Amino acid sequence: MAMCFLFLSHLLRVFSVIMCFPNTFTHRNDHRNRTSIRFLAVGDWGGLPLPPYTTPIEQATAREMGRAAQEMGADFVLSLGDNFYFKGVRSAQDPRFQETFERVFTAPSLNIPWYVVAGNHDHSGNVTAQIAYSQVSDRWHFPDYYYELNFGVPQTGSTLTVLMVDTVLLCGNTDDHADERPRGPANAAAAGRQLRWLQGRMEAARADFLLVAGHYPVWSVAEHGPTDCLLEKLHPLLVKHKATAYLCGHDHNLQYLEELGVGYVVSGAGNFMENSTRHRNHVPRGSLKFFSGQLSTLGGFVHVEVTEEQMVITFIQARGTSLYRTALPRRDTHASAAP
Ligand SMILES: *[C@@H]1O[C@H](CO)[C@@H](O)[C@H](O)[C@H]1NC(C)=O
Ligand SMILES: *[C@@H]1O[C@H](CO)[C@@H](O)[C@H](O)[C@H]1NC(C)=O
Ligand SMILES: *[C@@H]1O[C@H](CO)[C@@H](O)[C@H](O)[C@H]1NC(C)=O
Repeated sequence: MAMCFLFLSHLLRVFSVIMCFPNTFTHRNDHRNRTSIRFLAVGDWGGLPLPPYTTPIEQATAREMGRAAQEMGADFVLSLGDNFYFKGVRSAQDPRFQETFERVFTAPSLNIPWYVVAGNHDHSGNVTAQIAYSQVSDRWHFPDYYYELNFGVPQTGSTLTVLMVDTVLLCGNTDDHADERPRGPANAAAAGRQLRWLQGRMEAARADFLLVAGHYPVWSVAEHGPTDCLLEKLHPLLVKHKATAYLCGHDHNLQYLEELGVGYVVSGAGNFMENSTRHRNHVPRGSLKFFSGQLSTLGGFVHVEVTEEQMVITFIQARGTSLYRTALPRRDTHASAAP
């Protein structure tokens, strides 16, 4: 009987998703004959500095991430910064690692590597401590401020490269309450080093799918809007090197934009939800494909599946509905690079 209900509820869940997306959804989490890489991306999930150290949105998002990872599959999570509100952590022993992370993302399906970058709130505390926590937790992988990840799509020749970047080191910190734009890097030499590293890695990238992930948006229609510093430094690289997509948080909602062949994913709905679209006229005309910022949806995240031929991005509400899905093609790495 229990099995029956379990099966039925599973079918219903799948059904509601099928209703939205009749095309290519695979639901069976079959690890044996896999031909794809699956991951989740979530930003701005950092709880609160006071009891209960989490928000209802973070809890709902964590629960739904657990279900999505179980049902759709997830090999890892990309954590897009603002991991601990409002001032990061103090040390690798800070209780916030337990209170806001370990005790919230408890589903066994989320016991997978979490690849982490820092956001502006993390930089108001001790980012070195978040890096050091990689030695404490089995799933927390934060080897350095910025780093490269490489994956092979199982049983295919396709490859995925993810460049994890620290947009706060690159562009500077912000004061959210003053609605500030990044004020320019605190350490210009370190910012220059990271930018040269990024240029070099993107230039060298031969992967079939190339992603860059950081905290601040390149394009966003919401409260913070586009980041001028990233439009200047990162946007030309994404276009020139035919990046598949850029993933970020910072604005507290879900957005998908597409421009000049690059996908822009904003997934900053892990703890708060904001519906402002006050920068809607500050993105290229026609680039916004999807926006979700209603508080009643309880936050959300994205699920990504990379197959031999394409990268499928699904935006999922914490309430359990899949909202929007799009597919990006494999890079054409054989075409001659633009001069
Ligand atoms: C994997 O797929 C192959 C052929 O596609 C099949 O013969 C084999 O039984 C499958 N293995 C499992 C464990 O499902
Ligand atoms: C930051 O955290 C590291 C690791 O726990 C610690 O060694 C260091 O002293 C901390 N820095 C400050 C300024 O507290
Ligand atoms: C946006 O959110 C605010 C506060 O939660 C609410 O009052 C307002 O009606 C919402 N606006 C829209 C367009 O949904």
